[in-house]
Amino acid sequence: MKTVEQIIAQKSKQRITMLTAYDYPIASFLDEAGIDIILVGDSLANVVLGLESTTEVGMKEMLHHTKAVVRAVKNALVVGDMPFDSYQLNPRAALDNARQFIGEGCQAVKLEWFEDCPKVAATIAKAGIPVMGHVGLTPQTAHKLGGMKVQGKDAASARAIIENAKVMQDSGCFSVVLECIPQEVAEVITKQLKIPTIGIGAGPHCDGQVLVIHDLLGLFSRYQPKFSKKYADLGPQILQAVKEYKKEVISGQFPDDAHSFHLDLDEIKKLST
Ligand code: KIV
Repeated sequence: MKTVEQIIAQKSKQRITMLTAYDYPIASFLDEAGIDIILVGDSLANVVLGLESTTEVGMKEMLHHTKAVVRAVKNALVVGDMPFDSYQLNPRAALDNARQFIGEGCQAVKLEWFEDCPKVAATIAKAGIPVMGHVGLTPQTAHKLGGMKVQGKDAASARAIIENAKVMQDSGCFSVVLECIPQEVAEVITKQLKIPTIGIGAGPHCDGQVLVIHDLLGLFSRYQPKFSKKYADLGPQILQAVKEYKKEVISGQFPDDAHSFHLDLDEIKKLST
């Protein structure tokens, strides 16, 4: 099993690979492929549950999906994404909720930057739970940032993001996600921090990269962020397979003999007497 110490040791040596997963089959594939970190992201809300905002999922949904992912993973580090309202209220409640993720088999939790983040991150980290920070575009509070758009586009706001990342490190985070910021800003942060940076829409200079698995596989068509790359287009393949199934059921082509069971002749005779 990948450890937090191994992830930290990869900084400047070997780029860190991270992807999201929300269920057993996908987590199995990611683990088999040797992905370093699997994030049970609150993007669950958008790409799995069809909701508009990540703020619409809570601990119940996150833990439900965490359990499925943990069952599949043998090698990767599993990080539970703390949902909106699970860590903002007070550090004590945040720690209790972080412990629930660890209780389900996660090795770490992730939380997004907000005003009291340093206190909350420090409380969780001091209790022995590894914390991954998240700065730049923080979707749970995107409304305060002018929406889901690139952050840190001028020197003053870039400086603020650099400062937030440093505070995350000083609060005891073992790594920090940089979301949707200019690559020059990500490069400064990556050079200045001792902990690894993991970018999503933050360019090539980060210590690692993360994508939402549904974007990478072409399973989510509602929108496609500029920064995410489709490595496969499974949507049309799924559509085609389902259409074929429908056609074969209607025509009686499926199920054929190869996909059916037979009763022995003797038993057929007995059945008819
Ligand atoms: O929930 C999520 O998918 C995330 C990634 C974008 C890092 O937080």
